[in-house]
Amino acid sequence: MVGAGAAGRVFVALDGMGLPAALELVRALAPLGVRFKVGLELFCAAGPAGLAAVQEAGGPCFLDLKLHDIPRTVERAVRALAATGAWGITVHAAGGAAMLRAAVQAAAPLRCLAVTVLTSLDGDALRAVGVGTTPEAQVARLSGLARDAGCDGVVCSPREARAVRDLLGAAALIVTPGVRSAGTPRDDQSRVATAREALAAGADAVVAGRSVTASPDPRAALLALLADLGGLAPGARVG
Ligand code: C5P
Repeated sequence: MVGAGAAGRVFVALDGMGLPAALELVRALAPLGVRFKVGLELFCAAGPAGLAAVQEAGGPCFLDLKLHDIPRTVERAVRALAATGAWGITVHAAGGAAMLRAAVQAAAPLRCLAVTVLTSLDGDALRAVGVGTTPEAQVARLSGLARDAGCDGVVCSPREARAVRDLLGAAALIVTPGVRSAGTPRDDQSRVATAREALAAGADAVVAGRSVTASPDPRAALLALLADLGGLAPGARVG
């Protein structure tokens, strides 16, 4: 296994592909020591059976469905997801304290992470949905809400990782998508940084999607990302 160091702190997002391609990618990349994230795209297309196949090939996944509904509905949905043996699940912190508490209870023993502000949103986009504050302030506010509701951690952009770490302390799990190498396309993301910057700022793990999966050679793209992480320690909280 190449990824004895920080590779276990990288979740490769299996977006933009069907189950056969996802399984092929997982088999090619799992030996590098990374983990995988199944999101709405693949879960809606391939369902729990698809998730089970991915997990059989690549280990427990980060199941990132970003649930956001009334507490009882989220509780029941999360209970069903808890049976999948995933690494952890996500809910939107904006669903409120009662929804978060319901999700945390139903998720056990899976990790329950709260998504703060999507990395695709900038200040203008936030204002357009009625949030009259900066992304940084909103991330801090929602991180506190998630902590008080008992969430294991939060998802935020690399740019807020340092402030969230300071706010939540050492025990909280921080995962950051929005990872891009310098000079590569942002796609629909706004608040981006490199994987190394994200981990150095206090994130426990990063999500790398299109920068790896849309590359003509995903294995080479991932190896370049991992080379950039050389020397960083494996994350104790991610294991
Ligand atoms: O392709 P890219 O690296 O932008 O993929 C980012 C992944 O992280 C996607 O699967 C997306 O759903 C997820 N995500 C995000 N922003 C969040 C939470 C999750 O982009 N706040």
